[in-house]
Amino acid sequence: MIPNIHTLTLLLATTLTTPTLAATNHPPKPFHPSKPILLRQSGGFTIGGRVIPHPTIPNITLSCDHGYIEYFTPWRPRRTSIVMWHSSSTQTFQNRWDGGEGFKDKFLRRDYPVYLWDGPRVGRANWACAPTSYAPDYRDQGNFVAWNFGPRWPEWWDDVQFPTESEEAWHQATSGRYQEFDSEASVELETDAAVVAADSGRLGEEIVYLTNSASGLRAQMTAVKSNTTNIKGIVCYESFGYVFPDTAGVAPGPGLNPFGPIVVPEEEFKKLAKVRSIQFLFGDHREESFIYLNQSRQAAEWINSYGGNAEVILLGKEKGLKGTTHIAFADLDNDKVAELLDEYLEENRLHHYAEDEEK
Ligand SMILES: *[C@@H]1O[C@H](CO)[C@@H](O)[C@H](O)[C@H]1NC(C)=O
Ligand SMILES: *[C@@H]1O[C@H](CO)[C@@H](O)[C@H](O)[C@H]1NC(C)=O
Ligand SMILES: *[C@@H]1O[C@H](CO)[C@@H](O)[C@H](O)[C@H]1NC(C)=O
Repeated sequence: MIPNIHTLTLLLATTLTTPTLAATNHPPKPFHPSKPILLRQSGGFTIGGRVIPHPTIPNITLSCDHGYIEYFTPWRPRRTSIVMWHSSSTQTFQNRWDGGEGFKDKFLRRDYPVYLWDGPRVGRANWACAPTSYAPDYRDQGNFVAWNFGPRWPEWWDDVQFPTESEEAWHQATSGRYQEFDSEASVELETDAAVVAADSGRLGEEIVYLTNSASGLRAQMTAVKSNTTNIKGIVCYESFGYVFPDTAGVAPGPGLNPFGPIVVPEEEFKKLAKVRSIQFLFGDHREESFIYLNQSRQAAEWINSYGGNAEVILLGKEKGLKGTTHIAFADLDNDKVAELLDEYLEENRLHHYAEDEEK
């Protein structure tokens, strides 16, 4: 869609000539969905990781196991940054399933600074300090079920929020991904870099993590490792994995422990209770017996028992968003999912403009 030139000029003129008025002049609510995205800047950087010497030639090195951030700063930013942490593809935040607008643009339009994070070894941060491997495992049809598109391939849920008639949409969904590295060791490695980023202030001094699937577990672990109070919110769309205190009597997951539970000392766990608000959201067609829904209820209880503020939300049953998938922010009705996030940000006082705070 081409932004209306007249509106754009007017907006720029207002910003440039009446800075004092602009501070109190919030965009109307609900703001116009085609309000132009005005950026002050965008860019990217690596953060965290290590520089290791060659095993036998000590004067040559490798910089590795860092994370990569791409950032977008609105012209007139709100104070809180939204850090979008995908499970295995930033693409899920960039576009809706049908190619329509994703959460990245939706929240830039709302003037939130947006950060797209690739954890160590994943995506654009794939210089690893150790060998990694990729073995094709023919998982397209497995994705269909894991992402809650239907009970089994190729049976879509009747009400699924996906353009089921579009083969191209399905191909985009299943191919726009990269190697995810699911293991507890990988969670440790990725969160070591993520916490350096969070604590540095370079993602902003107020962060809300938006996560999906395995990145929900990673964001919880980052909060557990953080030494600052920069992490104000964690919003998990279908987190596959939860963190528990060692007092909970919960056993760590088996084997390489790809999806938790991860057990941490009680004192560290209490940091999750200091996060202003944590939401565990689930798509439609999930039973209470679904292991990650069950664990989310237990994890929320533990967080709240230490004075925290965690809740579990069923997007289908409780919010009327029928047919929501594993990746609700890419769903056809992602406008409604975004409105729920607006409410969360407002209720938790994370919606203020940076310039309002300075007054
Ligand atoms: C490393 O040291 C060797 C031996 O002194 C030297 O020949 C080589 O040029 C050095 N390499 C770099 C990249 O400095
Ligand atoms: C946080 O503090 C602990 C204990 O002092 C320290 O070991 C850790 O490296 C710190 N984390 C960061 C990201 O600075
Ligand atoms: C959730 O898990 C706990 C512990 O494994 C179990 O006792 C409980 O019955 C489960 N709840 C549901 C609704 O499946």
